[in-house]
This record gives sequence, C-alpha cells and structure tokens, in this order.
Amino acid sequence: MSASAALLDAAAEVIPGGVNTCRRRSEPRICFRRGEGAYLEDVDGRRFIDYHAAYGAILLGHSHPAVVERVARAIEDTVLFGVGVTEAEVGLARKIVEHVPSIEQVVVCNSGSEATYHAIRLARGVTGRPKLIKFQGCYNGFHDYVLRNVMSAPERVGRRDPHSAGMLEAAVDATLVCRYNDLDDVAGVLERHDGEVAAVIVEPIAHNSPGLLPRDGFLEGLRDLCDRSGALLIFDEVITGFRHHIGGFQAIAGVLPDLTTMGKAIANGFPLAAIGGRRELLERYTTRSDGDVHFGGTYNGNAVAVEAGLATIEQLEDGRVHERLFALGERMRSGLAEVAARVGVPAVVGGYGSLFVLCFMDGPLDSYDDVLRNDNELFMRYRRELIRRGVFEMPESLGRSHISAAHTEEDVDRSLEAAEEALRAAVG
Ligand SMILES: Cc1ncc(COP(=O)(O)O)c(C=O)c1O
Repeated sequence: MSASAALLDAAAEVIPGGVNTCRRRSEPRICFRRGEGAYLEDVDGRRFIDYHAAYGAILLGHSHPAVVERVARAIEDTVLFGVGVTEAEVGLARKIVEHVPSIEQVVVCNSGSEATYHAIRLARGVTGRPKLIKFQGCYNGFHDYVLRNVMSAPERVGRRDPHSAGMLEAAVDATLVCRYNDLDDVAGVLERHDGEVAAVIVEPIAHNSPGLLPRDGFLEGLRDLCDRSGALLIFDEVITGFRHHIGGFQAIAGVLPDLTTMGKAIANGFPLAAIGGRRELLERYTTRSDGDVHFGGTYNGNAVAVEAGLATIEQLEDGRVHERLFALGERMRSGLAEVAARVGVPAVVGGYGSLFVLCFMDGPLDSYDDVLRNDNELFMRYRRELIRRGVFEMPESLGRSHISAAHTEEDVDRSLEAAEEALRAAVG
C-alpha cells in the first residue's frame, strides 16, 4: 500500500473520509508532504510539477520565501489581538483600495465563502430586497445563499439543484439561477422579479465551469441591467482577484461592480479574503458605530493572513509576475491545443491568463451547455496518466489548472511532453 493510501486510511478513523474538504478526495489517492515553488513531493517521496495550486490559492509558488519570511517575522510579536486595528491591516486596506478600481473601502475575513456571504448580506441590507441572482456553473462558496446549481448534471440544469442536504429551503428559493453569458435570461428574471433582487453575483470569468470567458458585452450588460433594476452587481473575484491582475479582472475588463469579493491567490495560500466596494455601501457595516449590517469574525485581520497579503502584493506591484504568468499560460494553452491535434483528439483548451483546462469535446466553449459536452471519462483517464508521469493536475472532472510564477518555460515544455504521452495512453 502506498504511504498516501495508508495516511488516508489512518485519517479516516478520525476525520470522516480522511480529508477536511470534500474536494480533497482523489483517485489516485494522494497526500503531499512538501511544496516548493512549482513542485510538490508526495508522502511516498515522488515529485510532481504542480498545477493544482491548492485550487488556485498558490500564485507565486509554494512556500514563497518572501511571503513565508514576512509572516514568520510578524508573528513573533503579533498574531491576533481582537481589539482595534494594526498598522498592517491599514496598510493592506490601502493597497487594495489603491489597486482595485471599484474598491473605496474594504474589510477582510478568512475565506472566499465568508466574503460572498458578507457581500450578499450587505446587498440585502442596503437594498432591503430578498433575492439574489447567481449563474449556473458558477461556485460562489459553501453557504446556503449560493450553493445551488453549481456543476449540475444535465438533467438538473434549469431546475432547482441544491448542492447539499441540510440547506434551508427558503435560502435556496431566494436564489434565482441564470445562464452565464445570457443577458436576455438575466433581463427576463429581473423583470419577473421586479424590485425583489438585491444583487447579481457573478464570477467575471466562470473559472468554476471551467474556462467560460465572458462574451463581449456580457459584464457591461450586467452592469447596465443592475443599474436599471436597482440590484447591486457583485464580482466574485475569489479566483480572478490578483490572479489575473493586481486590480482584479475588473481592471482588465473595465467594468466596475458595486461590491467585489476576493480570496485564494491574494495571500498566496494563507487564509485571507476581502469584501470591498463603494464607500457608502461598506459604511453600512457595523464596524462603524452607525452601521446596521453585521460584520464580525474573531480571526479577521489576523497577522498571518494580513502579512501574507502584503507580501503577495509586494511581489505583484510592478506587473512583471503577471506578464510572466500570462506568457506561460499562453505557452501551455497553445501547446496543449497542438498536442491534442497531433494525437487526433477533439479538444478545446479553455482558460485565461495563468489558468488552463484541456476539455475533450468539439468547440465552442461558451456556455454551461457546452461544458456538459466534455468527455469526462477521457478527461479523468488523461489526468491519471499525467500523474503517473509526474505532472499533477487535480484528477477531478473539469477541474481547472493553475500556473504559478514559480513555473518556468522548461516546466511547461516538460509538462507538454508528458501531456502528449498521457493523452496517447488515455485514448489508447
Ligand atoms: C469564485 C469562488 N468564490 C468563492 C469561493 C469560496 O472560497 P473558499 O473556498 O475560500 O470559501 C470559491 C472557492 O473555490 C470560488 O472559486
């Protein structure tokens, strides 16, 4: 038995299923003991080029020295005080306000799910409206407000599709689901629920679908529909924020939401998330004495997260990291398209910037219906063959993959060689 399997078996005695997040179960079963830059070492001592990047939280590379050192230094005398604010928290907020175009004020918490929860409650508090629009195929966190119609099976698309037992029926029903990239659908739902929708929450790139890019005019159209209906527009930039630009994808798209949520890559693997937006919205939080929308959290603004965020921002400010990430992403996506063509497999390479996903289907990849055409069996066989060849992409149906700033051109080229071998073996 492998050391990974033994560890997972031992874990399963005391942790249900052996893992602390449902999406960490994998086949093959695998556990890692060390991450360094672009590489992971599993508990059996095998090395992998990593493109899982902890679901995208790793942007600069594993255990990036500048981030780790800054955190280690800070926590010698600051971890958490639970009163007032620290200089570092102010510094982080200033940096986020400086860089993210729509953000005038910001508060921090610890995970993307907390961020979307707080943003939605704020939208409800400000508008006095009960309902929410999300998009089929987008994932916006684990709480009842948004955990429906995520990766729905074909027969559940267009239907009520809660993703968990135990969800409050009323919360599920208060969330209306539209098709990504379909403005007519959004306009129709807003019209049918006139005056009831507090917010439209959208991943500006639907990386959880994965790889659906917004059609020209989609984000602008959402902005316009929200303005006309009085709903707030929330960009869920938990993946895109800092991964594609230090100003979030909004800085690239030129469309400004009312509220923005960020997480994952903003602190390179440390638990930091943020909710930002226009001053008059954020000032409704009870962090002000006259606020009326509750905002709390024992660990908010802890030194580990904040210092990691500051260190990550420092690495990103001159733009060179993003230039590199985009170039590497392009090299990977075009290389994979060539690999699929050489092997003779119908494929579309989705993704943007440093993200990529090789889907096995004919194009286009433009809507959730398109995503459903992926050959999932081939996808899984391919990823398992890749793992055998030392390249780790999460063996999970339609999981996106992430390049970090620690990857090199040689890593990408070696991965492309492995990809060709793996694909030939998978189609076998
Ligand atoms: C777009 C988006 N929003 C929110 C979340 C939730 O973030 P977390 O897992 O940190 O709670 C995720 C996580 O994958 C995400 O991809």
